Amino acid sequence: MRIPLLAGNWKMHKTGEEAAAYVRDFLPRVNGLAGIEIALCPPFTALGIVGEAVRGSAVALGAQDVFWEESGAFTGEVSPGMLVAAGCRYVIIGHSERRQYFGETDEMVNRKVLAALSRALRPIVCVGESLAERERGETEAVVARQVRAAFRQVAPEAAGEMVIAYEPIWAIGTGRNATGAEANRVIGLIRQEVAKLYPEHTGVPDRLRIQYGGSVKAENIAEFMSQPEIDGALVGGASLDPAGFATLCRVSAEAAGRRGS
Ligand code: PGA
Repeated sequence: MRIPLLAGNWKMHKTGEEAAAYVRDFLPRVNGLAGIEIALCPPFTALGIVGEAVRGSAVALGAQDVFWEESGAFTGEVSPGMLVAAGCRYVIIGHSERRQYFGETDEMVNRKVLAALSRALRPIVCVGESLAERERGETEAVVARQVRAAFRQVAPEAAGEMVIAYEPIWAIGTGRNATGAEANRVIGLIRQEVAKLYPEHTGVPDRLRIQYGGSVKAENIAEFMSQPEIDGALVGGASLDPAGFATLCRVSAEAAGRRGS
């Protein structure tokens, strides 16, 4: 059975001090929640502080990006080994904001995925179509292309450890979420695409967790968690408030319990 992952993507929010205060408030609120996994993805400058604060708890640490080289003259970049040393288990790769504002291509996403996996960091690879692509009926083709590129040269054992986040760009930060049924449909297609790369007997299509992301909040998470293909969520804005994100996690754990029973 796949354990749903609720990951908070803080984007460019919170100083170290603010991050520490968040974790102090958040941890007791999610203590003992069963049937889900929770990760917090602060900016690089707060990774050390959050990593320290969550150590020994059930909450995992994730980064929002990584570079594909281990060290060297790459001003401004951070390597997989550095993230591991800071306590990261996850790293978000290929978020649409990075693709859109920083020119990340499918090929760069793949290089980052391979580098992360080589250090046993679990990539959360973001895929999703723009509004124009959706209106042109290209959703399936765009998402399939992004998925195929991300998994290039990834061995089956590693592929099963990965997480995909299906995030339609038009739903990110807009308050306009996809419906549970529509997200479930596209995520089902993503799983079929993965099954073309890794047949059923590899166990990958069954093990791979695929989240939904885009305007997820405590009020709508149950709709996504009740869908059979959706294995949790990547949450931006609604992860910034510790009480709100804890509520979202609690609702998810309740829904996961209903799924498991
Ligand atoms: P949002 O962002 O929840 O604020 O829509 C999601 C994301 O970009 O990961």
